[in-house]
Amino acid sequence: ATDGNPPVRRVSDWNADRLHDLATEHDTPLYVQDLDRVRENCERLVDAFSEADVRYAVKANTGRAVLEAVRDAGLDAECASAGELDRALAAGFAGDRLHYTAVNPPARDLDYVVGVAEAEPKLTVTVGAVDALDRLADRGYDGRICVRVNPGVGAGHHEKVRTGGAAKFGIPYGRAAQAARSAAERFDLVGIHAHAGSGIDSDQLDSHRELVARMGELARELADPGDDAPGDTDPDAPASLDLEYVDVGGGFGVPYREDAPPLDLPAVAEATREAVASLPAGVDLAIEPGRYVVADAGVLLTRVNAVKSTPDERVVGVDAGMTDLLRPAMYDAYHPILNLGGADGEPTPERRDATPVTVAGPICETGDTFCRNRALADPARGDLLAVGIAGAYGYEMANQYNSRPRPAEVALDEGIATVVRRRETLADLTTVERESERNSARDA
Ligand code: LLP
Repeated sequence: ATDGNPPVRRVSDWNADRLHDLATEHDTPLYVQDLDRVRENCERLVDAFSEADVRYAVKANTGRAVLEAVRDAGLDAECASAGELDRALAAGFAGDRLHYTAVNPPARDLDYVVGVAEAEPKLTVTVGAVDALDRLADRGYDGRICVRVNPGVGAGHHEKVRTGGAAKFGIPYGRAAQAARSAAERFDLVGIHAHAGSGIDSDQLDSHRELVARMGELARELADPGDDAPGDTDPDAPASLDLEYVDVGGGFGVPYREDAPPLDLPAVAEATREAVASLPAGVDLAIEPGRYVVADAGVLLTRVNAVKSTPDERVVGVDAGMTDLLRPAMYDAYHPILNLGGADGEPTPERRDATPVTVAGPICETGDTFCRNRALADPARGDLLAVGIAGAYGYEMANQYNSRPRPAEVALDEGIATVVRRRETLADLTTVERESERNSARDA
């Protein structure tokens, strides 16, 4: 069904006239998220992993319109916090399609989740520490549980996003079987889970294979603990555990660089099937990508408001900053940038010289740059720049540092534009303070 569907949407594939119109109408910085592309990405995942349960890692983009599109495409929701779970519920995910994956869950989150589970008993809670099991039992929870394992192997585009190996996540592989058995005594154990990291590209497929192989092995061990000597039944062997699924995580990378090849999804699916070797009868495979679903469905539009040459570089000042898109400052992440032109009296970008420029935002941090000395069609004041592949971990990581209101986001649905997150105002910046002041005046 997805034949002929380009495997990555480059920033140059967007309709430039449309982006100009949206920037004029809604002002900049502006996120544009194309729901049609989100749906195509979901379809491609479901096609490639036809026999797996596909879950969307909500953290990549929690916008209501995105969640609804993903829900309609048939994916489940993997939620990392009470807030994400709350959003997924509001977007209409049924209880049996909700997965709460807790990492050091705050007490308040556990209280909330246990409350939700009373109404939605098919929700699954994934825990990565024995303490979390105890804390759930203390709250009277006895529902569906999945045990998160640290597979001992990590991968990802940056050390800060490797979750397997030396990281805080999951129960160490060597102790996982024991933890799963103890979980099964108190809860309805339905699955085991592992996630290697985020932004795994074709070069890192070996880590993915290794993780999958280890999880397959663990599932077999749990199903058949006494299989060392076939035929023998060891009276002391632990009971066999019937899992519903083995979740091997997400992390599928997208090619941010213009010359990077897209991930060959059918090949990843095939590698996954091979690596798992076999799963006990009735146990399904599950995956939970976030970035892959939304990354190339989004762009960030920003306007050039100053251009200056320093002895070291040509600095193009734009109205978006690290507060709007944190990834370059936080991970040195590369995002493609295209000059869409529009400056008064300037030639179209195609007729300008490619010039090495540093694109910098308005934040008082030296790291507030989107690129350094990168060749762009020489930007001028008033030009519109499109920062590509910004749909994942873009708006989600936006913040109000330097007292900057967060940008607006527009969703395109079959070409129709709707503001799905309005631009914040200066008044929004102080809402919580003013409410506190009012409350303390009342209490006094
Ligand atoms: N499952 C779990 C348990 C995760 O922790 C994550 C991501 C995912 C799934 C989805 O990974 P994805 O398919 O999106 O790679 N802010 C960083 C990415 C952090 C990802 C954290 N966990 C970035 O902008 O690169």
